[in-house]
Amino acid sequence: MADAETIEFYADADAMSREAAQRLAQLGPDAVAQRGVFTVALSGGSTPRRLYHLLANDPALRSAIPWSHTHFFFGDERPVPPDHPDSNYRLANENLFRHLDPSLLRVHRVPAELPDAREAATCYEADLRQFFQTPDRAAARFPRLDLIFLGMGSDGHTASLFPGSPALQETNRWIMANWIEKLQTHRITMTLPVLNAASEVMLLVAGADKAAMVAEVLERTAGLTQYPVQMVRPPEGRKRWLLDQAAASQLTRPMKTSKETLWH
Ligand code: 6PG
Repeated sequence: MADAETIEFYADADAMSREAAQRLAQLGPDAVAQRGVFTVALSGGSTPRRLYHLLANDPALRSAIPWSHTHFFFGDERPVPPDHPDSNYRLANENLFRHLDPSLLRVHRVPAELPDAREAATCYEADLRQFFQTPDRAAARFPRLDLIFLGMGSDGHTASLFPGSPALQETNRWIMANWIEKLQTHRITMTLPVLNAASEVMLLVAGADKAAMVAEVLERTAGLTQYPVQMVRPPEGRKRWLLDQAAASQLTRPMKTSKETLWH
């Protein structure tokens, strides 16, 4: 069970994205002061676009972030080149990275252009191990990222952990090439032990197309682990749901803008 799981409601996707951007800007300096680096995993799909745009264009946010000490990772990636329309890296690059001074960027890209997704996963895991398992950093079994952004699909998947997919059973590897039967393709993804080692997980969920699954996971099957998104529960970290009004529209509880704690 997460150290603390909260649900936060926002009027729209812009307000939700601004909160996410402000949290990143707030956590960054503290992480660098304490550990010399700030480690962030970016999510995929389309929701993060606004978040990236804010980080790249809001002067207060941009100046608050310790870019040269901020290491960006990806929670998952599609098995495509970095300039492919489906690439999660491409979305981040077009909306954030290419607007920054390249000398300040510390991006750990998934080598998803490799023809074999399993090789891409192995290479990406080696990159993470090289970064996280250095002599001056506790060689923990799993890397504790400061902040992991995640999205949720309307089927309850998160990162590229889809319902019934093999990676959900993984207990040792950090990164896997996960076969997604319904998509008939592999996706490269962080595994649950890595997501659950995080200090803070922010789930950004927006849009009416997510409303049914939001109600399913937060009310009808609340507290269970029926869907991958429910299996993300960092025992020594925070799990924060950030919902816009549309995504929260099928919840029976009154929607409040205040933060509501689900679990202690
Ligand atoms: C991906 C993601 C995936 C995504 C959700 C939501 O690579 O697609 O990592 O988990 O976050 O499917 O996607 P949208 O933001 O496009 O709704």
